[in-house]
Amino acid sequence: LTRFLLMIPGPSLVDPETLLEFAKPTFSHVSDEFDRIHAETLEMLRKVFGSRGKIALIPGSGTAAIEFAVRASIAPGEKVAVLKAGYFADYLAEAARVAGASVDVIQAEIGAGFSSSDLEGILSRGYSAVLLQHVETSTSVANPVEEIAKTARKHGAKVIVDGIASVGGMEMRMEEWGVDVCLTGSQKALATPPGLGIVAFREGFEPLSVNNTLYFNVSKVMAEMETTKSYYITPAVNMVYSLNRALKIIMEEGLERRYRRHKALADAVRSGLEAMGLKLVAEERFRADTVTAAYLPVDWPGFYREMKRCLVEVAGGLGELKGRIFRIGHMGEVTANDVIAALAAVERSLKRLGYPVKLGDGIRAAQESLSRSDI
Ligand SMILES: Cc1ncc(COP(=O)(O)O)c(C=O)c1O
Repeated sequence: LTRFLLMIPGPSLVDPETLLEFAKPTFSHVSDEFDRIHAETLEMLRKVFGSRGKIALIPGSGTAAIEFAVRASIAPGEKVAVLKAGYFADYLAEAARVAGASVDVIQAEIGAGFSSSDLEGILSRGYSAVLLQHVETSTSVANPVEEIAKTARKHGAKVIVDGIASVGGMEMRMEEWGVDVCLTGSQKALATPPGLGIVAFREGFEPLSVNNTLYFNVSKVMAEMETTKSYYITPAVNMVYSLNRALKIIMEEGLERRYRRHKALADAVRSGLEAMGLKLVAEERFRADTVTAAYLPVDWPGFYREMKRCLVEVAGGLGELKGRIFRIGHMGEVTANDVIAALAAVERSLKRLGYPVKLGDGIRAAQESLSRSDI
């Protein structure tokens, strides 16, 4: 089954050119050839993160990047705040706990994120660091990272951002906004298969080595990032080729255009779902451009089955939203055609399940939205 549409919020659709990198011969990880590809990959990543600092690229999923980022930025005994807008905030909180921090989790209502005024109150309690998701994938909430980072810096708190579901699809300007550490995974808006964790540091931010373990040995991994000839752990060579190719595709599109495309697709999905009478999970001021979650008017197993019959794969809810919502990913290399096809499948599936949708209503709204955009 190859002609199906993967519309989950990660892993996302991958360009065939990016996939073909896995068919290339694997160079020695300490060869000049690979060292050059690795260095070029880090340089392109800096552009995507808006960082001039160090970058770590390690084999592993997004969670590996979370753990590496937190170990490299939080020392035992620190008092930190995790801003929770959904399921994945618990990953940040657990990483901070295992790094020896004292952790307060501050929870937003379902569908809400955090504004700088929320943060002013929180930071008066004296935290040394704030940890948050840029996009909380479980609710499709996007936090306004720029204003949060600027507020946190005013209070002298470090800012650590999980950009797993945003980097490459929504703007990130670490230097300008004052984000100290931002991390992501290869499999979301960077449109590369799963398998790489990426952690970017702001220029001048020295990764800490007080929380090293065998695998998460920050100083040794960072030395390998200077040159792969300083071998510590074997880089995932073909994964790096693949990410390198995906980044070249991103650079060719141009970051600004890419972010505009993501915004246009997100607008189309939201208007399409709302025109079918569905309620979106995220509040209007906190909506992500990479994923959209909506409450289900029918049962999840039936909806998933009907969507699969239409050859479209969407995701269900996580944690307390399990069975109550579905999520459409529209990040990476997704096109307007994919979005229209996915919405058409949602209409047919809902109708077959007895929900009173008028076929074409969602599509019309999405088409209207797309026709107003420049994509
Ligand atoms: C925002 C966010 N954080 C963390 C994770 C966990 O990443 P992984 O499953 O790649 O370990 C995910 C995965 O969907 C995510 O979306």
